[in-house]
Amino acid sequence: MTILIKGGTVVGPSGPYAGDVLVDGETIAAIFAPGQAPEGPEIIDATGKYVIPGAIDAHTHMQMPFGGTEASDTFDTGTRAAAIGGTTTIIDFAIQRYGEVVQDGLAAWHAKTADQCHIDYGFHMIIGGVDDDSLKAMDQLVASEGITSFKLFMAYPGVFYSDDGQILRAMQKARENGAMIMMHAENGPAIDVLVKQALERGETDPIYHGLTRPQELEAEATSRAIWLASVAADCPLYIVHLSASKALEQVRNARDLGRNVFAETCPQYLYLTLEDQLGAPGFDGAKWVCSTPLRSGKQSHRADLWQGLRTNDLSVVSTDHCPFCMKDQKEMGIGDFSKIPNGIGSVEHRVDLLYQGVVDKKLSLARWVETIATTPARMFGMYPKKGIIAPGSDADIVLYDPNGRTRISVETHHMNMDYSAWEGWEIDGKVDTVLSRGEVLVSGGEYRGRKGRGKYVPRSLSDYLV
Ligand code: URP
Ligand code: ZN
Ligand code: ZN
Ligand code: ZN
Repeated sequence: MTILIKGGTVVGPSGPYAGDVLVDGETIAAIFAPGQAPEGPEIIDATGKYVIPGAIDAHTHMQMPFGGTEASDTFDTGTRAAAIGGTTTIIDFAIQRYGEVVQDGLAAWHAKTADQCHIDYGFHMIIGGVDDDSLKAMDQLVASEGITSFKLFMAYPGVFYSDDGQILRAMQKARENGAMIMMHAENGPAIDVLVKQALERGETDPIYHGLTRPQELEAEATSRAIWLASVAADCPLYIVHLSASKALEQVRNARDLGRNVFAETCPQYLYLTLEDQLGAPGFDGAKWVCSTPLRSGKQSHRADLWQGLRTNDLSVVSTDHCPFCMKDQKEMGIGDFSKIPNGIGSVEHRVDLLYQGVVDKKLSLARWVETIATTPARMFGMYPKKGIIAPGSDADIVLYDPNGRTRISVETHHMNMDYSAWEGWEIDGKVDTVLSRGEVLVSGGEYRGRKGRGKYVPRSLSDYLV
């Protein structure tokens, strides 16, 4: 079946242009100058719309076990919500816990996703116990399983934490086999001291989650990770969920030296603050407990992060989608902020929230597409299959209506959460139509996809390294 997406403005990483996109089956067959396409195919009218590659969320945690509970979106509900918001591929984190076999952790994620996903998906692997066996397993995952990125944690001692020696060994392994090391860069042991001291003082409200994770401890860990990667012969390093100016400074310095250091940020750090959200009255701030934490609105974090996106010191915007309901989940931390499960859910809203950056003249159109689609595809070895409107690429395509309007609310969102971190937000722009491998999932505000149609995407090595 062929479809012609006609009359729109195609937006790629090199800018917008008028073009008609011919889809044949699951892939893009050709792009024609306006009016040059052959007649015959079914027409989707894209007049007045941007035609962009389906967005890629490179950081999600569907049904992730965490803090004695499990992230509330399943692969079914979470990928459906993602599709409705214009995201056509996610990369979720499979988990190896300390003492577990890496391949068993991976098999568990394949079992969770089997016949559940509405859109295509890949996996990163969390290595929670770096030892001889898991290092060997990294080679196997890169060579045979399509997993070319591994997340380590400098935070959460006793849970996912790796010490510096373990981190160095994993980085040396990645340097050997070409994989990317993704780092949760916060100094966990130091944070644990601050948390204990705060609780001893009776400081139990959600805002203390942020106050016990000062930006210095994100910057210190970021810097340490960068130096360790340097010792590991410049192992490719990707800092996840970067939130703070001082951490960004470390990344920028490394990049100015030409190092293989990259970072992502998330919408919550671009817009929300320690005071307004985490410091909301009563227990409400629990809605925005995530790590790294929201930063102070009295400092320049948000402006610095937007600038970092423009200068490519921040290469990607992911959501770190890790939703928990207030009822029975976030509520576990009433009277003790350290027991609030960490995470915010935004997988449905990232395309819109970043488009608001275009409206606000903080990002160009091209940079919007680059940070939400093209660079994640390149960074994580899915390009040019994903992340670009080009002949031969998968027909993952979003028609985005700049004259539409999106109002975010728990009443209308599709994520399995009993609140919205963005309640009442109004965005100038709207996802109009979504295609995934040539299949129309969203049209005229209606969802037409189905669970189980999404396919696992085995990934190659990154082509984004210097
Ligand atoms: O608060 C967060 N970020 N929860 C998800 C786990 C992680 O560290 O990414
Ligand atoms: Zn993390
Ligand atoms: Zn620079
Ligand atoms: Zn995460």
